[in-house]
Amino acid sequence: MRRKIAILGATGSIGTSTLDLVERSPERFEVVAVTAATNVEALAEIARRTNARLAVIADESRSQELAELLVGTGCRAAAGKEALLDAAGGEADLVIAAIVGCAGLPPVMCAVETGKTVALANKEALVTAGALMMDAAIAHGATLLPVDSEHNAIFQCLAGSRAEDVSKLILTASGGPFRTASIDEINAATPAEAVAHPNWSMGAKISVDSATMMNKGLELIEAHYLFGLPSERIDILVHPQSVIHSMVEYVDGSVLAQLGSPDMRIPISYALAWPERLETPAERLDLAAIARLDFEAPDLTRFPALRLARGALIEGGAAPNVLNAANEIAVASFLEGRIRFTEIADIVREALESSNFSAPRSIDEVMEIDRATRQRVAASMKASCH
Ligand SMILES: NC(=O)c1ccc[n+]([C@@H]2O[C@H](COP(=O)([O-])OP(=O)(O)OC[C@H]3O[C@@H](n4cnc5c(N)ncnc54)[C@H](OP(=O)(O)O)[C@@H]3O)[C@@H](O)[C@H]2O)c1
Repeated sequence: MRRKIAILGATGSIGTSTLDLVERSPERFEVVAVTAATNVEALAEIARRTNARLAVIADESRSQELAELLVGTGCRAAAGKEALLDAAGGEADLVIAAIVGCAGLPPVMCAVETGKTVALANKEALVTAGALMMDAAIAHGATLLPVDSEHNAIFQCLAGSRAEDVSKLILTASGGPFRTASIDEINAATPAEAVAHPNWSMGAKISVDSATMMNKGLELIEAHYLFGLPSERIDILVHPQSVIHSMVEYVDGSVLAQLGSPDMRIPISYALAWPERLETPAERLDLAAIARLDFEAPDLTRFPALRLARGALIEGGAAPNVLNAANEIAVASFLEGRIRFTEIADIVREALESSNFSAPRSIDEVMEIDRATRQRVAASMKASCH
């Protein structure tokens, strides 16, 4: 029996890596649904290539174009938010959640509520609705498999162990493109410099998050919800070579690490085939050639986003939602050249300080906090430009 797969965010970096693996093993996987935001040509090409039965474009204004591109293929074209839910909750057994940002939350939740196995790359979904999603997964018998390389590494290092034997999690971080930059250099950073990650090839938003180290902050919150450990038992360790993808320390002092080349096809393949393993074309580690592995503590002065994220996790309530929404809008503004790199963390800090939302009790409330925070942040950025 082939596994039926829906790929949400099929045109992105994770989507493309997933397709590469799936297309290498046609005897194991069948792509049934694919989605994108606006990139209608790439989506139609993927749908044709994979013989998917449903292709969804989130941008409703591209609906007609998608339908025309898919004429004669047998693939149904659909558009809009409701159609994204159809892709997530439809016939797939395994849903690859690779939409970027909080926009990916409703389809992820739909997949969880229909009891699917969800390979979760979309970290913003767990950051903004972690408790709701973990509860829903238990209630509906859904399985969440982490795709983020750090969480996937921890998941592998935890295999077969008892929760009471774990003393802490150690999330590794490359430190991003500005790890050794001065405050002045960071202040003058351009979007092109910020997205040029030293080790990983990723989408623009996560690349900027890696440069500010907000990515590691979001991953800290993600790890808290996925593995149920409090902030003080999740450490962050800078490891520039990105060979160790994260570690678990046990009560006896043993530390287990997962190593591999920095290729997202390794953690994606683990989620695709779990509990089995899949062969991948990822480069094999040559530790003798790498020769050394370095580690250092993160610098919270040059990378204040990490402190903000840990603060939001400890504060709880709606703080992670506000952190995420403010960060998404600040990163988009930075990529459009409207704010400086260091203003990203300033904007997030101000949003956190001025927010007074209660903890969200439903996905609708999560989406409302997200919308209201974006609106407030956009208004405040506009006011400060005048
Ligand atoms: N890339 C990595 O190596 C990596 C590693 C770990 C975790 N992640 C996480 O995985 C997620 C995806 O990252 P990525 O790097 O693959 O991003 P990406 O390359 O920017 O791709 C994002 C995908 O989501 C779609 N999309 C964007 N906005 C959308 C919206 N509002 N509604 C519906 N679909 C939307 C895009 O469609 P269009 O092409 O039409 O814009 C694209 O298919 C993120 O949450 C990221 O943090 C990524």
